[in-house]
Amino acid sequence: MSEEQRPELPSHQLWYKDDLALMHIMVPFMNQVENMKCMDDDVFVCSWPKCGTTWVQTIVMYVMNDANLDKFGDKTIEDIFPMLELIDITGGTDIPDISAMPSPRLMKTHVPFKYLCEDIRERRKKPKIVYVTRNPKDAIVSFYHFDPLGFSIPGVTDPEYCKWTFSQYLNCFFHDATTFGSYWDHNLEFWERKDWDNILFLKYEDMLKDPRTHVVKIADFLGKKLTEEQIDTITTETSFTKMKSNNMVNYSFYNSVKLPQASPFIRKGRAGGWKTYFTVAESEKMDKIYEEKFRGTGLQHSFNV
Ligand code: A3P
Repeated sequence: MSEEQRPELPSHQLWYKDDLALMHIMVPFMNQVENMKCMDDDVFVCSWPKCGTTWVQTIVMYVMNDANLDKFGDKTIEDIFPMLELIDITGGTDIPDISAMPSPRLMKTHVPFKYLCEDIRERRKKPKIVYVTRNPKDAIVSFYHFDPLGFSIPGVTDPEYCKWTFSQYLNCFFHDATTFGSYWDHNLEFWERKDWDNILFLKYEDMLKDPRTHVVKIADFLGKKLTEEQIDTITTETSFTKMKSNNMVNYSFYNSVKLPQASPFIRKGRAGGWKTYFTVAESEKMDKIYEEKFRGTGLQHSFNV
């Protein structure tokens, strides 16, 4: 992107390697992300933000542990399933040593495919990668509640950012300038590789329509043989209502950095909520970009369920 096209980023963000909008506190983590050594039994959940990452992570976590829900004690999803590029949003600065995690390692990342480590990109290793996407209108509404409207990391977040309107934020999205950059490239990089035997490509709206089938799909992909009862348990425990009240996965541990007006992390959990945020003109603009970016690729999303 040429410099004149770029909107001004809030002061807590910068352009990483000149093309990826990132929070500056993520940058020290990028060396590890780009250069990590993978193992074939690693499991990654990858996504553009707010596309259902936590939902998929929770399913993966329970599947990998044979629906044994008591196993995790007081641990949170961040302990069990760390985010590669930022582990502790509440102010921690230590870069955790991913190589010290016990196998099979469960890891989450929003980093675009091109910034993943060579082991993955060059297929030297074949960790399991579950990618989840969501229609961009609902994803950006969700991100708006999470990001400018929801969180304020003391000493990090630009205070002006927290006052942004939805239209301001959407304009940033249209310039690929929200954190983690282009939704379109992110999706396409994984979509182009959806037939790799170590990638499972899922859509949030399909999961909403038929969650149980997706639990089975994820279990099969991860090579886990579960009983019908275990599958039922995982489906129930990863429902929106259950996850919303489960402190292990609902990010209530972020409460200390949330603004008073913030929505809960597990917020609405549906498709079509974008209609109360987008103007007609904004919706049409998004439709046009969607058509241009994904035309001929076969990638399609539902915008309502
Ligand atoms: P909304 O803000 O639209 O409600 P991520 O984990 O990638 O940040 O995505 C968060 C979005 O997934 C939020 O969307 C959240 O409510 C939704 N979500 C989380 N768990 C869910 C579940 N079990 N069922 C449906 N949606 C869920």
